[in-house]
Amino acid sequence: MASSPFADPAFYADRYPTYASLRAASPVLQVSLDGATTATVVTGYDEARQAFTAPLSKDTGAYFADRPSGRSLHPAVARTMLATDPPEHTRLRRLVTKAFTPSRVDDLRPYIRSLAEQLVGMWEPGTEVDLIEDLAGPLPVTVICQLLGVPPVDRSSIRSWSTDLFATGDHERIDAASHALAGYMAELIATKRSSPDRSLLSDLIAVRDSDAGRLSEHELLSLSVLLLVAGHETTTAGIGNAVLALLQHPTELEHLRTSPHCIPSAVDELLRYDSPVSIATWRWAPDEVDLSGATVPAGSPVFVCPGAANRDPARFPDPDRLDLGRANAASHLAFGHGIHRCLGAPLAHAEIEIVLGVLLEHFPGMQLAASADQLVWRHSRLVRGLVSLPVRL
Ligand code: HEM
Repeated sequence: MASSPFADPAFYADRYPTYASLRAASPVLQVSLDGATTATVVTGYDEARQAFTAPLSKDTGAYFADRPSGRSLHPAVARTMLATDPPEHTRLRRLVTKAFTPSRVDDLRPYIRSLAEQLVGMWEPGTEVDLIEDLAGPLPVTVICQLLGVPPVDRSSIRSWSTDLFATGDHERIDAASHALAGYMAELIATKRSSPDRSLLSDLIAVRDSDAGRLSEHELLSLSVLLLVAGHETTTAGIGNAVLALLQHPTELEHLRTSPHCIPSAVDELLRYDSPVSIATWRWAPDEVDLSGATVPAGSPVFVCPGAANRDPARFPDPDRLDLGRANAASHLAFGHGIHRCLGAPLAHAEIEIVLGVLLEHFPGMQLAASADQLVWRHSRLVRGLVSLPVRL
């Protein structure tokens, strides 16, 4: 059995050679996580698509009920919609789908664009900026906080708590951040309950208070925490990875500058090429499952890896090449697949498109201000994203 690929710090700097060797061993492979737990890692494209719709459970509560983890994660973070199965999942998702449809997102485009313009408006040509700190970080958190109705003064705390939540391995930091974030959201819910506004959070409180059968108090809290966290960490990584890939491919960058109408389809190839959610969230097999002829034993955690599936040569020829004209790029699995497919995909796509458009318009000559080996990647199994991205304007 293969040993855990996630234990080696080098994995976080460049995952793709590891993904390729795991896939070569088997696209559905058993690995030993920590000596005690055996997990199934899915790295093939067809296999990942199948795994996303297989009878695997997302119910972490049921998994850990028999296997005490010794953790003290706040329940509103531990048990979100992303950790439920139908029928709960169906009921919860239905409450929030309307807020994230492509037409709702189109209404938000002018706001997102003005935010991006405002952030880059402070930059001087010829200087150096940190694209993560100065743009890719603040933009998505501001957008999702605006939607949910989180006051501007609290947005930097939200950002730092959610960054901590993705710090794989640092349990103390993750658990502390989960309590801080859930405590903050519980207070905000209380405030909005007494003075409702036009935010999504006030809408959810109204659902809860008018019909407790549709949304419990725990679900109200966990759903708002999920939207807040899922809505920006991933997009920050998506913007950073897309800009980095373009700076490393000047011909493609120049092509987009002269043909900005190609930006929307380019975003799909950029999401395929360096997927921000590299390893999807926790799933497990309540019963033995067959995945493309490989057996997933009952009780096995299953790590489906969009980052690996999107580099599967059987689906994407010459997968390590960034090809903005790739015909099937939009079939990437960067947003997952099946019933848990990313709720915020249209919003995330729009944010990346708008940021690229604004950057290319204002700073067409921008360049990477660090070599590839100086770049520091986040130590997160789930999110593949940069800690910082120095760019000369
Ligand atoms: C580039 C940015 C983003 C990427 C790559 C991304 C990726 C993903 C992926 C892969 C999943 C499925 C996880 C799984 O099945 O294990 C997911 C789920 C989810 N995403 Fe995103 N996401 C992004 C941005 C957003 C945004 C902006 C929101 C806005 C609220 C959002 C909200 C959610 C929610 C609520 C779920 C859970 C859906 C469910 O359980 O039914 N995401 N995302």
